[in-house]
Amino acid sequence: MSTTMKTKDENIVWHQHAVDKNFRAQLKKQKPAVLWFTGLSGAGKSTVAGALENKLAQLGYHTYLLDGDNVRHGLCSDLGFSAQDRRENIRRIGELAKLMADAGLIVLTAFISPHRAERQLVRELLPEGEFLEVFVNTSLAVCEQRDPKGLYKKARTGEITNFTGVSAEYEEPLNPEIDLPAGDLPIEQLVEFCLQALRKRSIIPD
Ligand code: ADX
Repeated sequence: MSTTMKTKDENIVWHQHAVDKNFRAQLKKQKPAVLWFTGLSGAGKSTVAGALENKLAQLGYHTYLLDGDNVRHGLCSDLGFSAQDRRENIRRIGELAKLMADAGLIVLTAFISPHRAERQLVRELLPEGEFLEVFVNTSLAVCEQRDPKGLYKKARTGEITNFTGVSAEYEEPLNPEIDLPAGDLPIEQLVEFCLQALRKRSIIPD
């Protein structure tokens, strides 16, 4: 990382440590990556990301899954669901995912992340090819029918405001690296789809 990187304080200078990203990744015998799952609430982001992480861990990879609902209990417990708070939520997760990739991990994130601009900002935090946008492409009708947490029902009655897909927008990815037909296929096939994409991009070997 360059020492010319902008901080709010010009007296803060980046320190280049001897143990770097390459070294840590080599120790783990893997290529770091960030698999950024995005989609509506109830689309299956956490489920698919969890099943993929399970598979990767069984194959011996070092992973970490950052999950929206869990992160909002800690790191982002001060944030709500206004557009501004969601922006800050995604900014923090993006920086955290970048640090975890720097630690040599394969990072999976499961956040609605409804805005293209924020997802693009996270993409730009990482080297080319290291950020994979995974669109968990389940229609609003299916998500609403599933309604695993009963939140769509509350959103329709107005008990919850700013609810993605109902009273707040979701901007679909225009060119995701992985587009998962998650309303139509069983979980095992969706995981296989992701593994194939990782092999194709040489993040994991054939
Ligand atoms: S994001 O928009 O900032 O990326 P995030 O993924 O962290 O959202 O959190 C989404 C989860 O919070 C949903 O799965 C749902 O359980 C819960 N939630 C509570 N209120 C809302 C809301 N207004 N809109 C969307 N999700 C909400």
